[in-house]
Amino acid sequence: MAATIQTVKDPQTQAITDLYQSVRARTLEIVAPLEIEDYVIQTAEFMSPPRWHIGHTSWFFETVLQKCHPGYKTYREDFLFFFNSYYEGFGPRIERPKRGTRSRPTVAETRKYRAHIDEQMARFIEQLSSRDDADEILRIIRLGLEHEMQHQELLVYDIKHLLCDQFDAAIKPAPKSVETVTGMVEIEGGLFELGYGGGMGVSPMTHAQDARATFAWDNEKPAHKVWLEDFSIDRAPVSVGDYLEFMNAGGYKDFRWWHSAGWEKVNTEHWQAPLYWEQHDGEWMIRDFAGLHRAIDKTNEPVSHVSFLEASAYAKWAGKRLPTEAEWEKAVTFSGSSDTKHEFPWGDAAPDDLKANLFENGLWSVAPIGAFPSGQTANGCHQMIGDVWEWTTSDYVPYPGFKSDFDEYNDKWFVGQKVLRGGSFATPQIHIRSTYRNFFYPHERWMISGFRCAK
Ligand SMILES: [Fe+2]
Repeated sequence: MAATIQTVKDPQTQAITDLYQSVRARTLEIVAPLEIEDYVIQTAEFMSPPRWHIGHTSWFFETVLQKCHPGYKTYREDFLFFFNSYYEGFGPRIERPKRGTRSRPTVAETRKYRAHIDEQMARFIEQLSSRDDADEILRIIRLGLEHEMQHQELLVYDIKHLLCDQFDAAIKPAPKSVETVTGMVEIEGGLFELGYGGGMGVSPMTHAQDARATFAWDNEKPAHKVWLEDFSIDRAPVSVGDYLEFMNAGGYKDFRWWHSAGWEKVNTEHWQAPLYWEQHDGEWMIRDFAGLHRAIDKTNEPVSHVSFLEASAYAKWAGKRLPTEAEWEKAVTFSGSSDTKHEFPWGDAAPDDLKANLFENGLWSVAPIGAFPSGQTANGCHQMIGDVWEWTTSDYVPYPGFKSDFDEYNDKWFVGQKVLRGGSFATPQIHIRSTYRNFFYPHERWMISGFRCAK
């Protein structure tokens, strides 16, 4: 009897294959304008060279193959050392500050490794549906793709630190502001369900079929009730113009506005302005991927590259405070008139480039405030998704009932960091949700971080 050649993949396999290919391709699109010399330089301890990112994101999938694909042969033992990030469970690794101290593996070798992993993964995914543990493996592959999207955003931060306006990004023109957005909105308190509540019990096969829906990190779960007092929150992120007022009022020279840790940074690192601000002939200028601009010409854009310490100082000076993450999430997901929690400010539809400034918009920059009226919340808060990650005053700690989905991924960072919400212009559309909890140390500011205030 003639064998039937199977040319059509089942929908689940096809969906995860498509997602895998598109996510992996985007990493290479981001680094495409780099010259070979750019790939290996580490400009600061906190950043990683682009070569390391393209190797590390492949290493992550190699650990999946090692664990789940019987007979898989490790590509090269020394790559396991060079491209592991911080996982104790996966053996010894190069120290983070030394990622830029070696010229080997070369960029060409790293790309060859990447291509090898992609080939192996394609074959592995192909035979998955016949396995009993297919759901569990699909869940890990999906997690690996979300991990890669996090590194795509980190690549944008790191390339900015490395090259800034020397990087030849294909920048699309920014949309114009069509609405003046000022003031605060009042939000009613009460019991609020914080965290990700959707998709419970949904098969990861379904996850793969709808790339956006139903994935959430373990740190967003479980959804649980918290009590909120009534509060007000800014309708717009704090702008460059607002922040200039703080600076011009001597904000960086007055200890009264600063946490002790912030005042120490002001004094020891001589902070006078956000990162990437430069003073030329007494005038403040901002450098970004597009070039050097007068701050005065950017007054209606969200301020970015501020630390938690600076955001807090501004808020105190302004007679306000930063929101808690629960306040931020309630402001985004609830409309005053309805009792339903929505996934996004505008409802439950997926983000698109008219609703929020995310990676796909291609701006490589924040957009003016008031440029995304169709992305506002029911209460009239603008740009809560996209543009800048927004600092909250909340500590990054597990939600009650937290269960780790992946050892050492999120669980080992639950100390000393603050939660940021909402995504930035470097976040891919399918990667962001209103319940997404990002986290950084209070002094960090090389990421796309801004804020809005509450009262
Ligand atoms: Fe990583």
